[in-house]
Amino acid sequence: MTDRPKVVITRKLPGVSAARIAEKAEVVAGGAGPMPRNELLEKVRGASGILCTLADRIDAALLDVAGEGLRVVSNFAVGTDNIDLPEARRRGVRVCNTPDVLTEATADLAFALLLGAARRLPDADRFVREGAFTGWDPWGFLGVPVHGRTLGVVGMGKIGGAVAARGRGFAMRILYHNRRRLPEAREAELGVRYATLEDLLSGSDFVVLTVPRTPETRGMLGRDLLRRMAPDAVLVNVARGGIVDEEALAEGLRERRIFAAGLDVYEKEPEVHPGLLRSPYAVLLPHLGSATKEARRRMGELATENLLAVLEGSAPPSPVS
Ligand code: DGY
Repeated sequence: MTDRPKVVITRKLPGVSAARIAEKAEVVAGGAGPMPRNELLEKVRGASGILCTLADRIDAALLDVAGEGLRVVSNFAVGTDNIDLPEARRRGVRVCNTPDVLTEATADLAFALLLGAARRLPDADRFVREGAFTGWDPWGFLGVPVHGRTLGVVGMGKIGGAVAARGRGFAMRILYHNRRRLPEAREAELGVRYATLEDLLSGSDFVVLTVPRTPETRGMLGRDLLRRMAPDAVLVNVARGGIVDEEALAEGLRERRIFAAGLDVYEKEPEVHPGLLRSPYAVLLPHLGSATKEARRRMGELATENLLAVLEGSAPPSPVS
């Protein structure tokens, strides 16, 4: 029997130092892949801390099993939609996440998707690999221009702001929609103009989603709103699945009412809607937003700091309010 606190690290993660945590706690660590739910439920019993990823569902049932000694859930992600925040709060469990360190990586990926979808890069790449490139074709893979067009950013937090900065580099006019409108000085600094969601969708050549998944944003872009997009417009989602109606999006692509989509996230990850899989105009990535070596290392370091700070009774660097 030991009086050292128990910490569960649900899988091997870049930047997470199990050795550092082991100086303060008894560490129970998972393997290379996500920890199966039943194993997770077994392991969290009596834990003081859990360091987890968005694949781990931290709900009331799990919090019950963990018990009253649980003090911190440190998420290796900025999004916290895998965690039942009200239940954690009610039990006095501190929840922490990893903002900032992945902002630029995620904004880079949003722009990669935007450019890739606008210029049909994955489809053209496949064409070359299949040996179908027989010579320059004046009609081949015609895309839509990016430079000087209108970019609509839905969600003007840190990632939205970083996407807007990239848009300025492409001389884009930038509209944004946010739960709360920004102060005028901030709008001027970012070079963005507020629009209702309806106006943003009908007035943008590129729509980039960066909002978190919450009860308010779930199903936010349904069939009617998607119909407002122009036939040459491109939708990019680096936020979370479940914000866009995938069936309606696949239909819009099939009927050529939306030019293309660049998607990094899906409603039922890792499942992808079959209509999207079939569309040559959908660029589909396996949730790569923060996937640079640097961002992932820094996420792990921050998740470690957050966990240790709470266990040591000090203020964690990035608590979720
Ligand atoms: C997050 O951090 O929420 C991303 O989706 C994964 O890095």
